[in-house]
Amino acid sequence: MKRVLTIKAKAGQVTAKDVYTDNGQLVIKQGTVLDKEIIDRLKYYAIFDFFIKDEDLVSYEQDDLERMIFAEQREENPEEDDAYYNRLHQTKRFKEFENMFHESVQKVQAYINDIVLKNCPINVDEMLNDVRKITSEFQPNVSVFDMIHCIEGYDDMTYVHSVNVALISRIIAMWMNLSKEDVDAITLGGLLHDIGKVMIPNEIITKPARLTVTEYAIVQTHPIHGFNILRNQRIDERVKQCALQHHERCDGKGYPYNKTYKEIEPLARIVSIADVYDAMTSNRVYRAGMCPFDVIELFEGNIDAYDPEVLLTVLEKIANSYINNKVVLSDDTEGKIIMINKNKLSRPVVRVGLDYIDLSKLKDIKIVSLK
Ligand SMILES: [Fe+2]
Repeated sequence: MKRVLTIKAKAGQVTAKDVYTDNGQLVIKQGTVLDKEIIDRLKYYAIFDFFIKDEDLVSYEQDDLERMIFAEQREENPEEDDAYYNRLHQTKRFKEFENMFHESVQKVQAYINDIVLKNCPINVDEMLNDVRKITSEFQPNVSVFDMIHCIEGYDDMTYVHSVNVALISRIIAMWMNLSKEDVDAITLGGLLHDIGKVMIPNEIITKPARLTVTEYAIVQTHPIHGFNILRNQRIDERVKQCALQHHERCDGKGYPYNKTYKEIEPLARIVSIADVYDAMTSNRVYRAGMCPFDVIELFEGNIDAYDPEVLLTVLEKIANSYINNKVVLSDDTEGKIIMINKNKLSRPVVRVGLDYIDLSKLKDIKIVSLK
């Protein structure tokens, strides 16, 4: 029996133990033969590593984890390193975005410290200023999502994530044609959604490996801590609900209260999508962000967990934004996205040479990266 990283897992390997999420939900049982769908499910549930029945696998030292994962990501996705995101990273527009972004992260960190440590009243306009500025200077569309993907996490990741979720939530709220007041409320909800994490020990938040059941139970208290920190602040009550409910899921499988669609504050339902989207696409210390079409596929496979109207709008916007984009397919060919399939947004029609390949009809080939 050996431990294997989920990103190194291969079809055909057999699990040696039941695999649980960090909150104790069973993902796959002992003795399951892995296939692509099951490996994707493990990635979706953020299973970092697990045990397989394979004596040939090399075990690893904890200290080597980051280096190994980076090496593996480069090996598996060399295109991702030098193609689409790399080009975007070099643009003047991205540099401007990056400067504004880091300035905003530092301010948010200072505001949150004031709120938590000194119980300072929240100055809403001051807090929203930078995110408002970013969405007015940069078109509020998917290109902002792509720039977020390119940000390197040299600031404290909790605050980077807070600004990301605020930006993504704000853009989604604009797409949903919400009122200006609601757009601002959700932006503040995004900035403050994880404020409760300041109450979680730092060694748990920054642990580069999978958390134990006890550690995850501690992490799962952050929505309640967040609500308690914000409880007496004179801000829109819905912002407090974003902190409390952003891990609730419409199918009742979230936490802390297993609420369902109707019981979850609509703005919190949007923040939850932005939160998961950012967790999957952003570059983290221990892994590179996923290709947007993989992200769409994972959302499509878990559609009951989210507000369907919001999710469909978001996934359609993302998929449509890559029409005419060059992509690399899993059979190593390169093509260009020609048309989006409304019923299967993760699998568009791609032109390869003179052929038109409808990926919704070819289950064995998929987009692996943007070119
Ligand atoms: Fe959270």
